[in-house]
Amino acid sequence: MHPMLNTAIKAARRAGNVINRASLDLGQLTIGVKQQNDFVTEVDRAAEATIIETLREVYPSHAILAEESGLSEQTSEFQWIIDPLDGTTNFIHGFPQYAISIALAHKGVLTQAVVYDPNRNELFTASKGGGAFLNDKRIRVSKCVKLEESLLGTGFPYRVFDHVDTYLAIFKEMTKRCAGVRRPGAASLDLAWVACGRIDGFWEFGLSPWDMAAGALLILEAGGLVSDLSGDGNYLQTGNIVGGTPKVFNQLLQVIQPHRTPALQA
Ligand code: IPD
Ligand code: CA
Ligand code: CA
Repeated sequence: MHPMLNTAIKAARRAGNVINRASLDLGQLTIGVKQQNDFVTEVDRAAEATIIETLREVYPSHAILAEESGLSEQTSEFQWIIDPLDGTTNFIHGFPQYAISIALAHKGVLTQAVVYDPNRNELFTASKGGGAFLNDKRIRVSKCVKLEESLLGTGFPYRVFDHVDTYLAIFKEMTKRCAGVRRPGAASLDLAWVACGRIDGFWEFGLSPWDMAAGALLILEAGGLVSDLSGDGNYLQTGNIVGGTPKVFNQLLQVIQPHRTPALQA
């Protein structure tokens, strides 16, 4: 296993312990609001501090982009992209669908990925060119080829509503054409679940790099495809992502693209 992946796994498991301990007494949580429907707890911050400390012990010169503390000062070819608790709204409610997401980019290319679900003790990992794994077992995207037979994941707009009408038009068409749509509430885990074949495709708009980086590499290494809305690879920049089995991915883009507006192109 790549040593950088190994360190990321250690960091994710430590953060998982912090989150699991806190989940035993949700009544104790202090909940802060960053903006409408954007919550942060001391658990998000403690999990992030644990991850950064673990990475820093081994790689003090690497740059870090983390949801709660932002961009570190280091300039480095290596950048860790961290969501210490993806699915905070679920966590606060005791809805057991959230994860820790850690990715490493080298010269802007995603090379290592960890998504850890502390509720199920499921560890999703990938290294570029080395395949994707769930608890050390190789995973692949499902064999689904038809949108009509696919189970899809998505994320509804709930914080920023600029594109809500466009989203709903796409949702309407998608839900009529596929076997079912789910909104589990933690984007990194949604993407990991595409990678292991539990869902056949996923789309969401307005995400941040830390929501997508690890999950995107998992899908690619599991034989799936991911892109932004134009079909290019700039999803970390645009915040809009489409992913799935190769065939379902193409059909998702075909449904989405005619609905794009000038403000929502890629
Ligand atoms: C959120 C979750 C959610 C997605 C949001 C994200 P957070 O992350 O991934 O599924 O719909 O857009 O911001 O804020 O819980 O880390
Ligand atoms: Ca997130
Ligand atoms: Ca988060």
